[in-house]
Parts: sequence; structure tokens; C-alpha cells
Amino acid sequence: MLYLTILGSTGSIGRATISIVKNHLDKIKIFSLVANKNVDLMKDQCLLFRPKYAAMFHKKSAEILRKKLRKNGCKTKVLFGKQGIYEIAKLNEVDQVISAITGIDGLIPTFFSIMRGKRILIANKETIVTSGRLLLKYAKKYGSQIFPIDSEHSAIFQILSNEEKKKLGFLSLKRLGISKIVLTGSGGPFLNFPLKKFKTITPNKACNHPNWKMGKKISVDSATMINKGFEYIEARYLFNASKHEVSIIIHPQSIIHAMVYYRDGSMTAQFSNPDMRIPISYSIFYPDRFPIKVSLIDYKKLSNLTFLDPSYERYPCLKLAIDAFEEGQSSVIVLNAANEISVDSFLSGKIQFTDIVKVNSYILERTSFPEPTNINSILEIDRETRKISKSFIKTLRR
Ligand SMILES: NC(=O)c1ccc[n+]([C@@H]2O[C@H](COP(=O)([O-])OP(=O)(O)OC[C@H]3O[C@@H](n4cnc5c(N)ncnc54)[C@H](OP(=O)(O)O)[C@@H]3O)[C@@H](O)[C@H]2O)c1
Repeated sequence: MLYLTILGSTGSIGRATISIVKNHLDKIKIFSLVANKNVDLMKDQCLLFRPKYAAMFHKKSAEILRKKLRKNGCKTKVLFGKQGIYEIAKLNEVDQVISAITGIDGLIPTFFSIMRGKRILIANKETIVTSGRLLLKYAKKYGSQIFPIDSEHSAIFQILSNEEKKKLGFLSLKRLGISKIVLTGSGGPFLNFPLKKFKTITPNKACNHPNWKMGKKISVDSATMINKGFEYIEARYLFNASKHEVSIIIHPQSIIHAMVYYRDGSMTAQFSNPDMRIPISYSIFYPDRFPIKVSLIDYKKLSNLTFLDPSYERYPCLKLAIDAFEEGQSSVIVLNAANEISVDSFLSGKIQFTDIVKVNSYILERTSFPEPTNINSILEIDRETRKISKSFIKTLRR
């Protein structure tokens, strides 16, 4: 029996994971669940799986959950706050941890699970981009294997041999005969939207992704394509790739998730309908593959696939992310923090869609931090940047 923890169980990735587990209760036991404040869904998940532990970041939500579970005769131990979540991330009994909290809040729990040597199924890209090499060094040191859940990185990961999979962060693409990794992106909901009208984009429109149903933060990130910029950074770290070894292409149908070019002219691509259960299921069951209820690709329709280069005029945040990586780790942390604040402000109606890039680039230009050497220095840069971003946003309010 495989014991699983889901960090972010009530979110889009968490729910996709749960829908897989439901069909494999003979193989997987949900040991612990973590969320922020969605008590109703957490209650349902606890009553269904009777995990040993559940934690809510929000204290009041944890209290409500505890009462509701008690009333239903459920013995799940309910924890709360950062400490409660960290306790769950460190549990020895667990084999695998799904890291699917949104934003940098997922960083410390993910590190705690890495330090316990677990298999980490990582969706939380903000953790990968802000801690980069440190995360991969920790994984190596503590014998924790990282399985990327982002569909593009999972696509490349699936192409690697078993031995190469264990060397994430320390591969030599050249030695593997790989000349280039190509990440695809749909272009989001505004691929063909008139640039002149970008100011009118509302949170509802930005979250209405044409191919994927995701949480709000990543949906807005996909609309600005900073999400693809973060995935570029993720690929640079995970596959130890140089800037000439990674490129990005827009592929509006989201059928091919990544392609790998080899030095001898050959190319491998991974195809599937856009459904996050595929990379999640792959990572949970690896090295086996079990059926999940997903629709298969109709190869007769593949002649409709299209590809185009991303425009930095339409997606300036994509360029910011690529450039930040060249500047160094502290610039990436700054960009991630500024972006978390600007996207949150856009979603709560404080700023316009077009202000997101204004905030992100202003903060990148105005801040400079020494390169971080440990988790505390990453968090310090993050904290400082958030403060500066919030004050700048006050000057922009409409
Ligand atoms: N969705 C996708 O298809 C997809 C694909 C690739 C990568 N990712 C990455 O996966 C991560 C999750 O994305 P998502 O779309 O699943 O987001 P989401 O739907 O917004 O879910 C986020 C989850 O994290 C929980 N959470 C948020 N802040 C927390 C905190 N401080 N402490 C504990 N739990 C907290 C939320 O709990 P509540 O529900 O209680 O607020 C929820 O369970 C992101 O980093 C995203 O970039 C997502």
C-alpha cells in the first residue's frame, strides 16, 4: 500500500489527484491532507478517505473542520497553521507527497518532505523557480526523488531513461544526445485578443483558459504567459539546460506538451489531451502505468495542430521571466513575489490586467539583493519584495 500526502488537496491539482486515488483504493491510502480554508471540501475529503491527519492553514477553518469531523464520527487529527502543515510534511509514514499548494507558501513544506527522503510529485512551480539549485541539491542529499507534475516537464521526464530520471538537476543534455527541449504553451485566452483592449480584461476573462481548468493564480499566469516563463526556468533547473537548450513555442491546441530534439536530427514529442490526471497518475504509479478515464487522442485530427512563436509585445511577462533567470536566483525570487502580489491585486480588482507587468518590471528594476545561500535568505528576499510591491500597488490603484 502506498501512503500519500496531498499538500493543497482542495485545489485543482489536489482534486485531480483525488479523482485518481478514488479508483485505486486497493493501492493508495491517503494518509494526510492539507489546505488553506476550504472547510467544506476538506470535510468531504476527510469523510471519504479517513486520513490520519488533516491541516488547514487558516486556524478558524481548522476549528470548524474539527467540529464537523467529530460530529460525523471521523477520527482524523486536525492541525492548523504553518506548524501544523510542517508537521504533516515531515511525517515518516508517508511514501509520496503531492506538492500542490499555490505560491511560495508551498516552499517550506516541500523542503521538509524532501528532507524526509520522500518521492515528491511537484506541481508547485513557484517553489522550483525560487529555490532552483538548492531544491535539487537537497533532493540529492536526502535521496528524495522529484517527479515534475507540470505537463511539459512531465513530458520530458517521461522521455528520460530510468537512470536519468534519478539525476534531475545534474543531467548533461549534451551527453544524452539532446540538442534542444521545446516547451509548448497554448497562449492562453488572449492569443488573438486585440492588444488595444488588454486594459479591459477582467479576472473572469483571464481565468477562462481555453484548454485547462486550473486555480485562479496559474490561470492569470497563463494569460500573461509568465507561467511559461516560470516553466522555462523550471526546465533550465530540472534538466540542467543552457539557454540554447530550451525554447518556447505556442501551440494553441495543447496536444503536444513538449518536444526533444536530438543531435542526430531525430525528435521525440509527448502527446496527450490536456488533462492533469495524466502526469499525476504517471508520477504516482511510476514505473507502472494504470488506466485512468481520459479521452484518447484521435490521430486523424492531428493535421489540425498549429505552432507559432510567442510575441513579447503580447506577453511581456514571459520575457521578464526569461531575463530574470539570466540575472540570477534573487531576480527570479523578486519576480515571483512581485507577480504573486500583482496577480492577487488584479484578482481582487485593485489593479488592471496591464498593471501586472508594470508592477513586475518596476519591482525588478528597483530592487537588488545578494544571491540567496539558504532557505531563510530566499524567504527574506520574498518578504521584502512583497512589502515593496504592495506599496507600489497603492500608487496605481484605480
Ligand atoms: N492546476 C493545474 O493544472 C496546474 C498545472 C501545473 C502546475 N500547477 C501548479 O500547482 C500549484 C497548485 O495549482 P492549482 O491550480 O491546484 O491551485 P488552486 O486550485 O488555487 O489550489 C491551491 C491549493 O493550495 C491550498 N493553499 C493555498 N494556500 C495555502 C497555504 N498557505 N497553506 C496551505 N494550503 C494552501 C488551497 O487551499 P484552499 O482551497 O483551502 O484555498 C488549495 O488546496 C500551483 O503552484 C500551480 O502553478 C497547477
